[in-house]
Amino acid sequence: MEKDVYILAIESSCDETAAAVVKNGREVRSNVIYSQIALHTEYGGVVPEIASRKHIEKINQVIEQALSDAGMALSDMSAIAVTYGPGLVGALLVGVSAAKAVSFASGIPLVGVHHIEGHISANYIENKDLEPPFICLVVSGGHSHLVVVKDYGEYEVIGRTRDDAAGEAFDKVARAIGLGYPGGPKIDRISKEGNPDAIAFPRAKVGNTEYDFSFSGLKSAVLNYLNSCRMKGEEIVTADVAASFQKAVVDVLVEHSMQAVRKYGLKKFAIAGGVASNSSLRKAFGEACEKESVAFYHPSPIYCTDNAAMIGTAAFYEYQKGIRHGFDLNAVPNLKLGERADFHGK
Ligand code: KG4
Ligand code: ZN
Repeated sequence: MEKDVYILAIESSCDETAAAVVKNGREVRSNVIYSQIALHTEYGGVVPEIASRKHIEKINQVIEQALSDAGMALSDMSAIAVTYGPGLVGALLVGVSAAKAVSFASGIPLVGVHHIEGHISANYIENKDLEPPFICLVVSGGHSHLVVVKDYGEYEVIGRTRDDAAGEAFDKVARAIGLGYPGGPKIDRISKEGNPDAIAFPRAKVGNTEYDFSFSGLKSAVLNYLNSCRMKGEEIVTADVAASFQKAVVDVLVEHSMQAVRKYGLKKFAIAGGVASNSSLRKAFGEACEKESVAFYHPSPIYCTDNAAMIGTAAFYEYQKGIRHGFDLNAVPNLKLGERADFHGK
């Protein structure tokens, strides 16, 4: 019988300090997330220096908690996995340094993981039957990618944002309508009380490219609408603005994704990243996939936003391929999807 693979995974790329223990890639034994959101709220967004400092304070505690929640010792682990990019360099460095230290002290191998591959892999946790190939829309605070997942660890990016990421647009519009940070969950909540057809915001088309996205025009349209209401002394119904903005984002994401589904002829479609926890987006994709007779996969909200369980899942498939990193592993803030690190020590 093959030996079980336990991975201790660490994630610190933005404002969540997280650690998890994952068994054989798909069974989450613990998932500890220390969110710094409250700390950054008063600044209206993530302050990189504060994020790094807080990661340093919390990282050991979060790692110990992950092992103790799993009821396991460090010596039971087969590998130590860590996000090494993309993300905030100072934030990434804390997780990478901690993982290297634990790996060095214990002699347990080190596996560096791409953050976005982690987001995509979050789909494997609760969908035990999901296997590549499939199409995945990754929509997070920093990224909007339409990806063909050809195999484990093999990705082809077929569409990306030309400007703002979807989550970034949610956060900026939320700030403009006075909802504060983080905008995504707040717009999601207030939209339930608004009319999504109240204001006709534009659905961006980007040149001739089929799958690329652009959200900065939509963001400007919202800002122009707000300014024009203020100048004319017209009432601004926040819930209507939020719901109409959200619908414009969701419409474009659904349209482009379904075009890709048809073109590539794949019968499986998944969503990932923080924005994938948006209730209206989940509903719209559920309906669109049903119409196309495509199986729809989505992680629970807790596995959509940043967490380490998804990193442990992605790491498992890298580990199975024999990928190990050396102590020269470093943070790569702009790491591209599908790119592999060249850090193999010695
Ligand atoms: O994946 P994530 O946790 O971090 C990154 O890797 O960027 O995504 C965070 C983003 C933020 O922009 C946040 O506003 C957005 O995800 N978000 C949402 C929702 N929950 C989080 N956006 C829309 N609706 C939500 N319910
Ligand atoms: Zn993320």
